[in-house]
Amino acid sequence: MCLVGRSLPIAPSRIAQRVELPPRPAGFAEPSPPLLTDRAGRVYTYLRLSLTDRCNYACVYCMPPGGEHEHALRPELLSFEEVVRLVSVFAQGGIRRVRFTGGEPLARKDVVRLVEMTRASTPIDELVMTTNAHRLAELARPLATAGLDAVNVSIDSLDPKRFEAITRGGDLGAVLAGVHAALDAGMKVKINAVALGGVNDDEVGALVDWAWSLGLTPRFIELMPLGEAAHLPAATFLSAAEVQARLGDRLGADPGAADGHAGPARYVAAADGSGRRVGFITAVSEDFCAACNRVRVTAMGDVRACLADRKAISLRDRMRAGATDADLSWAIHWSLSTKEAGHRFTDPEATEHEHVGMSLIGG
Ligand code: GTP
Ligand code: 5AD
Ligand code: SF4
Repeated sequence: MCLVGRSLPIAPSRIAQRVELPPRPAGFAEPSPPLLTDRAGRVYTYLRLSLTDRCNYACVYCMPPGGEHEHALRPELLSFEEVVRLVSVFAQGGIRRVRFTGGEPLARKDVVRLVEMTRASTPIDELVMTTNAHRLAELARPLATAGLDAVNVSIDSLDPKRFEAITRGGDLGAVLAGVHAALDAGMKVKINAVALGGVNDDEVGALVDWAWSLGLTPRFIELMPLGEAAHLPAATFLSAAEVQARLGDRLGADPGAADGHAGPARYVAAADGSGRRVGFITAVSEDFCAACNRVRVTAMGDVRACLADRKAISLRDRMRAGATDADLSWAIHWSLSTKEAGHRFTDPEATEHEHVGMSLIGG
């Protein structure tokens, strides 16, 4: 197993690239804000909002360039009131589904209260979270009661030692207890695994069998060359087609379809007709950018139009300077209006994405 080490800290401000926002045109957002769209005609209904840039794990593919970063100070993070206000402004622009991400969202103090506040203040269809589940055993029930609908849990290995190596310190026992607690609390659960050649590729079948034994859908994510992951050996990258081949006769021949509502995964059904499925997130081999419906806000309140781009406008600074909802809405619209057609992960000339740390933007 070849896993990279960690080096000098990098400041989050070096990762974001602040862009100037033109003044809000008179009459914009009056009488009500327009739906969030971009120049390619994509419509945005899904907000991914990071609650913290901290994580109690440090997965080998998730860190910014250099493997470590300085963390935001508490006052630099969006406050709960600011999060709730932003969700409401996004909802006015048509956002229906909100995913709290991180770092690790459960590392944010009082996260249950934030879920409750968000639910109480804004009518959205779904409030969900992506988590490493380290703290989920204790938090699943209060989170479900507060209004969290679902969690996506990252598990790349069922071998405790290997899990610890990939996550640089993670505790598989705690994570599995978290998955069970979420199920007991009535939440929907999906399992995310990044397939890594020479690291966990011999386990993809076991991961599927384990997830299916709990009635869960596992999803394999292609390694995206963001931040530190851009410098992993080339053989670490495994395409979804290669993973599918390793799953052998578990899966049917059907190439798989996306879920109606939202995410980037396409789902392939089990060969046995049981209705069980495996998801594939083909971010590199077959990008889904033409159907992108996601906009991101980082823990420090930057709006980012694309995962692979570090152009950022600070909604936090605008709120703290007295911006109206129309001002915030304009900043979000303008950010999306500058969005490129898609990422350029496979273009040897493009290096922009190497400066984006997944853990700082929330995936
Ligand atoms: P569902 O809504 O449940 O389907 O979840 P999701 O797949 O949208 O979210 P999750 O946080 O579980 O992300 C799974 C993987 O998909 C992570 O590696 C994300 O970085 C990746 N992902 C999510 N959205 C995008 C996107 O817009 N572009 C790319 N390239 N990857 C994305
Ligand atoms: N490539 C693909 N997926 C990644 N994740 C983190 N970094 C990467 C990367 N470089 C995944 C995590 C988690 C989700 C938020 O993003 O495994 O499931
Ligand atoms: Fe959307 Fe950017 Fe992700 Fe492509 S890489 S799907 S454009 S966020």
